Amino acid sequence: MSFVKSQQEGAVLTLTLDRPEALNALNQQVLDDLSAALDGVDLATVRCIIFTGAGEKAFAAGADIAAMADMGPEAAAAFSRHGNEVFRRIETFPCPTIAAVNGYALGGGCELSMSCDIRLCSENALFGQPEVTLGITPGFGGTQRLMRLIGVGRAKELIFSARTVKAPEALAIGLVNAVYPAEELLPAARKLAARIVQNAPIAVRACKAAMNEGMDLDMDEALDAEVREFSGCFMTEDQKRGMQAFLNKQKNIEFYNK
Ligand code: CAA
Repeated sequence: MSFVKSQQEGAVLTLTLDRPEALNALNQQVLDDLSAALDGVDLATVRCIIFTGAGEKAFAAGADIAAMADMGPEAAAAFSRHGNEVFRRIETFPCPTIAAVNGYALGGGCELSMSCDIRLCSENALFGQPEVTLGITPGFGGTQRLMRLIGVGRAKELIFSARTVKAPEALAIGLVNAVYPAEELLPAARKLAARIVQNAPIAVRACKAAMNEGMDLDMDEALDAEVREFSGCFMTEDQKRGMQAFLNKQKNIEFYNK
């Protein structure tokens, strides 16, 4: 039995954390199942991935506290490394990812959402890094990604105080791109995904690669990364097709992913 359900519709894959009885808390198996779900992605057919949580309450209420309670430093380091590996894999996954945050996104849940390229949330979403109330730091990337997303001062305030953030504030500080009534969240995520997947997939993946790489480089090196990705597109059929279609005044063409 897997704690991650995969459902593909057209070129959009939805991965649903499916452990609602524990508010989709992330234990070793959930992390393994996420990894296995990514192993199963076929980029020839999948052009965008939506991550969400089963049930009406939670995207994910964090790393599994019961599983961590009796850990010593070595087990804790291994658990943190495991989560970080899986989330880094999501962050650097070749195709775009959207977190559809349908409720609690606390601790590891907030960290999972921040590993995705884009976050949309429901009106009842609640974000936060409450780890210091448990005597620990965030362990799946929260100390690093939150400040890159919302700025150092705000991230330090939220992490040191463990204050949670409701959907309107998450929108105001740029932690999410948009807020929807709960029942409209997945349709909105699918609509955005549908818009993404109609574009040239190799070009979209190249944009992600250039932006991800550039985040950690100085501007000159970052622009070199852009030159590399830009020029690489000129080896694709989709570039020839896209430009010819423009010149021939054709609209809504299909890209081949080659
Ligand atoms: N780990 C393990 N189990 C969890 C969990 C978690 N993070 N969050 C919720 N659960 C379980 C509860 O223990 C409960 O199980 P039982 O029914 O067996 O008792 C079930 O999910 C439902 O939870 P609640 O009864 O607590 O539901 P609620 O609606 O009253 O409260 C909540 C919801 C406010 C999210 C509350 O569950 C909560 O505070 N959860 C913990 C949030 C948290 O501290 N997350 C950070 C974890 S540490 C971390 O993530 C470290 C890291 O970066 C790697």
